[in-house]
Amino acid sequence: MKALVTGAAGFIGSRLSARLLDRGDEVVGIDAFTEYYDPALKRAQVAPLTGRDGFTLVEADLLDDGWQEVLDDVEVVFHQAGQPGVRASWATGFDAYVARNLLATQRLLEALRERREDDGADAALRRLVYASSSSIYGDAMRQPTDEDVIPAPMSPYGVTKLAAEHLCGVYSRNFGVPCVALRYFTVYGGGQRPDMALHRMIEATRKGGRFPRFGDGSQERDLTHVDDVVAANLAAADVEVAPGTVANIAGGTQVTLARLIELVGEVLGTPVPVDPQPGQPGDVARTSADTSRARQALGWKPVIALEEGIAEQVAWQQRQLP
Ligand SMILES: NC(=O)c1ccc[n+]([C@@H]2O[C@H](COP(=O)([O-])OP(=O)(O)OC[C@H]3O[C@@H](n4cnc5c(N)ncnc54)[C@H](O)[C@@H]3O)[C@@H](O)[C@H]2O)c1
Repeated sequence: MKALVTGAAGFIGSRLSARLLDRGDEVVGIDAFTEYYDPALKRAQVAPLTGRDGFTLVEADLLDDGWQEVLDDVEVVFHQAGQPGVRASWATGFDAYVARNLLATQRLLEALRERREDDGADAALRRLVYASSSSIYGDAMRQPTDEDVIPAPMSPYGVTKLAAEHLCGVYSRNFGVPCVALRYFTVYGGGQRPDMALHRMIEATRKGGRFPRFGDGSQERDLTHVDDVVAANLAAADVEVAPGTVANIAGGTQVTLARLIELVGEVLGTPVPVDPQPGQPGDVARTSADTSRARQALGWKPVIALEEGIAEQVAWQQRQLP
């Protein structure tokens, strides 16, 4: 099939693009190389893809005009582009979240709507997979959290991810854009973004720094390995599933921050030096997902165990970030 991956130079988008190429799909990757973290890291992630048969990189911002022609004959759009991270989404930082999460998604949906109206029954598009987030739930009232829990984000980031998810539903209901939203729970693995906790604690330990631990370490996360997230995207593209479906994607390995710090120390063979800091606004106490819907509707389940996934990420950082 021909796929469009937005955010193809990012952590999840680059891993997804590689997997699609592995199985023989044609991939158009689009990325604006935003400055949220060092664009050189994104260029390094996408470089191995650009030499591969079937891959085309389009350097463009979804907010601009001019890229829409890449949608020709695209059967599946994997919309991974966005402005991630909770902490930078307060104050004036919010503008970039509205632009890159909400407005950029609206521009994509409009382009897909126009294409469907032009092509009618011949429209090639079978699926739009939207990268949603567990952050839409906030401190969810029910744990494990299922998709029927009413979302109540704790951060401006979560508000923009939820608004964009709703927008996908709006275009699905009004114009038949065949959207499925996957709500990822904290994604980790090789290539993880440098602002994320696991990445930072590995680098701090390797390079003689200290890991600023926000809060007392009791906060719990349902960590999800990036290969499981990629598999969920492929399932959402390949199986028959009702447009407008939303599904949690989580590894099922709830772990406290304190235990994660211990596990990383065990893999590296030396304890993570911790710098205790006060808790941060927007950080929730616990995330844990009920993934029954993804199992039933997509035939998907996570397969990467936490210890195995951490070892893979540590090995990746040792190899790629000397
Ligand atoms: N990593 C996680 O734990 C996690 C959890 C839940 C949801 N998500 C969502 O998954 C998606 C991918 O996350 P990631 O961790 O890979 O982030 P990332 O920052 O590594 O990747 C996002 C990519 O999108 C690109 N981009 C941003 N705005 C763009 C625009 N307007 N036009 C074109 N390209 C643009 C960026 O340059 C970047 O390369 C995001 O939408 C994020 O909100 C991630």
